[in-house]
Amino acid sequence: MPSGYYMEFGILNGHGIIDAYRQLRGSQVAHYFGFDSFQGLPKLDEKDGASRELMPIFYEGNYKGGSEAMVRSNIISNTGMKHDQLTLVEGFFEESLPKINIDHIKQHGELLVAYIDCDLYSSTKTVLNFLEPLITDGTWVVFDDYWCYRGSPYHGQRLAIEEMLSTTKSFGLTDYTNFYGFGKAYIGYKKGHHGVGDKK
Ligand SMILES: C[S@@+](CC[C@H](N)C(=O)[O-])C[C@H]1O[C@@H](n2cnc3c(N)ncnc32)[C@H](O)[C@@H]1O
Repeated sequence: MPSGYYMEFGILNGHGIIDAYRQLRGSQVAHYFGFDSFQGLPKLDEKDGASRELMPIFYEGNYKGGSEAMVRSNIISNTGMKHDQLTLVEGFFEESLPKINIDHIKQHGELLVAYIDCDLYSSTKTVLNFLEPLITDGTWVVFDDYWCYRGSPYHGQRLAIEEMLSTTKSFGLTDYTNFYGFGKAYIGYKKGHHGVGDKK
């Protein structure tokens, strides 16, 4: 029986969700969440601005795709998904994610996959803060842009992940694999009562 949900942060025109639906069909994923500004990348903050020359393609407004309504229709027509299986949240993460009711999300079961494809350090940091109470044992936590910025640990998603892992008491991430040119996938675990992977 379906028992969990998929979340994608940075969905552009919805191709990642369509792909995930096709790959995960028949699995336990009952609900799909997609988050995007639908306006492309946000204005770069100081940190992302300072990293700009290593990743010139990441600039304000790049990756602007269709409207929320167009993307919803694209996803529905390219999958067998029902309308009530798909929640799209429009807005820049910094504004949209703090407004989301975590208890409401948890009514959909467990977070099975978090696909984080939002390019920037600042966006990834906001997403990881949001995910902190949701990542559980076995959650796939997948970063599309880990090896951007020439793989430097001082920029982009890699920096956001390392900062989060050095501070959070809620979850850890076990390395799983690299994928495509720039991606990296982890398997999450909860710190605390399960003790799985906990460091003493
Ligand atoms: C490379 S595209 C995503 C591609 C998509 N996952 C796919 O499979 O086709 C990056 C997306 O991240 C979104 N994005 C990045 N930072 C964001 C933020 N802070 N708030 C909202 N959306 C953001 C952009 O609007 C853009 O659509």
